[in-house]
Amino acid sequence: MKNAVLNIDRDVKLSNVNKNIYGHFSEHLGRCIYDGIYVGENSEISNIHGMRKDVVEALKEIKIPVLRWPGGCFADEYHWKDGIGEKSTRKKMVNTSWGGVVEDNSFGTHEFMDLCEMLGCEPYIAGNLGSGTIQEMSEWIEYMTFDGVSPMAELRRKNGREKPWKVKYFGIGNENWGCGGNMRPEYYSDEYKRYQTFCKSYSGNELFKIACGPSGDDYNWSEKLLETVNNRQMSAYSLHYYTIPTSDWSYKGKALEFSEDEYYSTISNAVYIEKIIEKNKELIKKYDPEEKIKLIIDEWGNWLEVEEGTNPAFLYQQNTMRDAITAALNLNIFNNHSDVVIMANIAQVVNVLQSVVLTDGAYMVKTPTFYVFKMFVPHHDATLVKSEISDIKVGVGESMVSALSSSVTTNESGELFATIANCSLEEGFTLEINAEGVISAEIISADDVHDYNDFNCEEKVTLKEYKGYREENGKTYVEIPACSVVSVKFR
Ligand code: AHR
Repeated sequence: MKNAVLNIDRDVKLSNVNKNIYGHFSEHLGRCIYDGIYVGENSEISNIHGMRKDVVEALKEIKIPVLRWPGGCFADEYHWKDGIGEKSTRKKMVNTSWGGVVEDNSFGTHEFMDLCEMLGCEPYIAGNLGSGTIQEMSEWIEYMTFDGVSPMAELRRKNGREKPWKVKYFGIGNENWGCGGNMRPEYYSDEYKRYQTFCKSYSGNELFKIACGPSGDDYNWSEKLLETVNNRQMSAYSLHYYTIPTSDWSYKGKALEFSEDEYYSTISNAVYIEKIIEKNKELIKKYDPEEKIKLIIDEWGNWLEVEEGTNPAFLYQQNTMRDAITAALNLNIFNNHSDVVIMANIAQVVNVLQSVVLTDGAYMVKTPTFYVFKMFVPHHDATLVKSEISDIKVGVGESMVSALSSSVTTNESGELFATIANCSLEEGFTLEINAEGVISAEIISADDVHDYNDFNCEEKVTLKEYKGYREENGKTYVEIPACSVVSVKFR
């Protein structure tokens, strides 16, 4: 084991780690909504109002704080009025974004809000700017949030919901540089301003308006948006960044079989998001010196080739220890930039891309990524403190990366919580931490980086209590095995 150091300055408090950094994303895509979340009341799979009990329980276990819906690309072809009222009369439509399958609209606004109430999480609605009208968007907000007498509030009541819901987070378009209309940033920014004018805050419901931000490192998009739209018109903008192991979208690499090269290029591509966040932070400072505008990373995660034999448009992939490592790296980065990053939504919650749970008929399995979200719960709404970890490079060829990543927060009782990821496949570290009084420690590790959790089998990658530390002379020495994620809580 090599030596490394984590220095914590517990008195230097930096920013609030908004629990919404641990948010999720659900789209009408493949088996995310239907099968994954919603099976209908008449299903043999155990459900509450049609929602799978096993999935709801699992998501509660990781204290899901916010859920984005209905897309994704689907959001810009979704017409919300098709998804309300008596189910048998709801319109059937073609999901042109994802495989041309029939969307029967049996999961709509009421069902989504019901789900959020069950989960105890906040809804984040993605509105349709690409193919919808201003009237449609403004009426959706009125339908969901207006408490007085109005056509949309009456319609909601007629559909069985007397009181409005609280909807804070509202996105005005999705990927409007691509599937949301192939717009130029100049055009989108003007459209955004027009649409947002009619997104009203009704009945004490303060809308937090989210503009469509860039694809990855398209800084020109961010800059044009920030030049055009001010901090009264937009509270935040979104950033989408997916990690692929290769540099070629036509072959992204497999979920379960990958070489050492592919492993390190995945890590290297994953941590590139930090540069993108830093650059966007600079741009926000330039155009909004008060720094009121925030960043929401409302789609992120590993995007791999679909599992063999599954519909290529359904984006179903398995999830290994590699995914646990990249999840931990991303979450540490978001925590460390929580002055600007106030929400993130991993894509997607069930059965699509880097999911926390996968389903197969009545079976459900928790993925390695699930256990990272579970481990990181103490960071929710805690305060980031200054910390620095040794920068030791590992990797192969062009993919040389820092082996260790960490973030440290403190809570109201003054306890410290540190999460450490070691992405090295070979090297373990003895980490000297300048803190003592360990309350608990946990670890996620695997015999092999390719390990994953399969249906109806014992889980190979889980969260375990960890005893691999000793305290000496006011310091704590923690063994951080190769390819592992470790957390330590101190008094
Ligand atoms: O998450 C899958 C797709 O990725 C989303 O629909 C879209 O917004 C992005 O391109």
